[in-house]
Amino acid sequence: MSSTTPPGSIRHILEVDDLSADELLQVLDLSGDPNPPKVLEGKGMALLFEKPSARTRHSMEMAVVQLGGHPVTVAAAEVGIDQRESAEDVARTLACFHAAIGARVKSHSLLERMATVSSVPVVNMLSDQAHPLQALADLLTVKQEFGEISGRRIAFVGDANNVSRSLAIGAGLAGAQFVISGPPGYQFESTNLDRIAATGGAAEVVDDPFEAVTGAHVVYTDVWVSMGEEAQASEKIDAFAGRYSVSKALMGQAAADAIFLHCLPANPGQEASEEILYGPQSRIWQQAENRMHAARGLLAWLLGVS
Ligand code: CP
Ligand code: NVA
Repeated sequence: MSSTTPPGSIRHILEVDDLSADELLQVLDLSGDPNPPKVLEGKGMALLFEKPSARTRHSMEMAVVQLGGHPVTVAAAEVGIDQRESAEDVARTLACFHAAIGARVKSHSLLERMATVSSVPVVNMLSDQAHPLQALADLLTVKQEFGEISGRRIAFVGDANNVSRSLAIGAGLAGAQFVISGPPGYQFESTNLDRIAATGGAAEVVDDPFEAVTGAHVVYTDVWVSMGEEAQASEKIDAFAGRYSVSKALMGQAAADAIFLHCLPANPGQEASEEILYGPQSRIWQQAENRMHAARGLLAWLLGVS
C-alpha cells in the first residue's frame, strides 16, 4: 500500500480476463485454502457501493477480515463521486489509507477511471458490464462439484448481462464449454464474442433454451432485469417470459448429474421456478458461500502472489 507506487504497475481486476488462465487456476486453488497468508494484516480495504448488495458486501468484508485486514464499506452517495470530488481523486484518496479498493458501480467506465490513477489494486464488485467476483465463485462451485472445470458444459439461460459475460470469459479461460440462450436482441454482441474467443474458448449462442441445456452439466440463470435497467423492465420481461425460465422440464434436458446455479437475488417463478431454485439440483447457497472463499482467494493472490 503506497500512494507513491506508480499507477501503471498495479494489477486491477475489472474483468475475469485480467487474470491469465494459469492465474485463474491459482486463484481458484487459493480459494480452497481456508487459512491463506494474512496479506492484509494491519491494512484496510475500501468497499464502495453505488448499488445495493447483500452477498458482495458481506463476502468481501469477511474475506478481508479472514486475511487479517479491516474493511471500510461506504455508500458512493456519501463520498459524492464526481460531485464532491472526481472519481480519480476519490481513488487517489482511498489509496492513501487502503491496500485495495473494491467498487460496485453503475458504469464500468467509472472503474476504469479509478484504476487508471489508483496506486493500489481496484477490484470490480459488479458493474453494468462485468461481475468477475461472481464468476470466480461460480467456477469454484463447478470445481467443487465436478472435480474439474475443463470440459464441463455450462448453459446460461437468460440475459447477455454482466453475470453471463463474466462467466463466459471465465469458462473460456478454464476450458469449459459455454452456451447461452436468450431472445434475439438480448444476446451477446460481437465484441463480447470476440473477447470470449480471446480466452481460447467460445460462446455458443442459441435461441432455443432446450437446445442450450441439452447435456449441460451446469444450468445457470440470472434476473431478466438487472439493477439500473428498471426503465426497460416491462419490455425485457415480455421478451423473456414464457420461454426463458428454468423449469423442471428444461432442467430435465440437462445431464443427469447437472446442477443449477443462480447468482442471486432471484425472482422465484420468473427466471426459474421455485422447485428448481430450491430443489435438489440447486447449489445456490453453496454458490453464495463461495463468494467469500473466492473473494479471499482472489485478494490473497492479488495482494500476496501477483
Ligand atoms: N450476487 C450478488 O452479487 O449479490 P449481491 O447483489 O447481493 O451482492
Ligand atoms: N445482473 C444482476 C446481477 C446482480 C448480482 C444485476 O446486475 O443486477
